[in-house]
Amino acid sequence: MSNKAIFYGSDTGNTEAAAKQIAAKLQADIFDVASNPKDKLAEYKNLILGTSTMGIGDLQDDWASFLSDVENADLNGKAIALFGLGDADMYPDSFVDGMGEIYNTVKAKGCKIVGQVDTDGYEFDASTAVVDGKFVGLPLDEDNQSDLTNERIEVWVEKIRNEFI
Ligand SMILES: Cc1cc2nc3c(=O)[nH]c(=O)nc-3n(C[C@H](O)[C@H](O)[C@H](O)COP(=O)(O)O)c2cc1C
Repeated sequence: MSNKAIFYGSDTGNTEAAAKQIAAKLQADIFDVASNPKDKLAEYKNLILGTSTMGIGDLQDDWASFLSDVENADLNGKAIALFGLGDADMYPDSFVDGMGEIYNTVKAKGCKIVGQVDTDGYEFDASTAVVDGKFVGLPLDEDNQSDLTNERIEVWVEKIRNEFI
């Protein structure tokens, strides 16, 4: 069994497609949070959590209940990497805020958060996913910058591979 697992929530398939790409590169197991995989959280040392942002800065719907399972799980000693899908053109003031919400839930849980990304190359005005001048994980924008997605995933996967436990 892999020691890495991806948990993702997706409305129209963009986050799912990114999750599948990342899973293939890392040989990670993959779970849709809509299937309520909370028992799986304890089984892996390295977790990758992915969400799109809906509403104005809201988590993807299926994440709404799964996030409390993550909050109640024992994350001590695990490594966590985050990725988020968003649309910087239409929602420049809440770009990938869903990723910021997951970050705010896991940051005080005794886990190591890996895979922070520079804001260079992204055009947006505000995001709760930016902390200390960096994105807390990997933002992907399939609506405006889909041509950059493969390379962004490639670079990020190599980074987290080295930072994982
Ligand atoms: C109703 C609606 C609201 C959205 N709100 C935001 C938002 O606040 N911030 C953002 O970055 N993207 C927002 N988006 C863009 C989506 O996050 C983006 O299209 C994403 O790729 C969808 O991924 P999914 O198919 O995995 O759900 C919104 C999209 C829709 C349809």
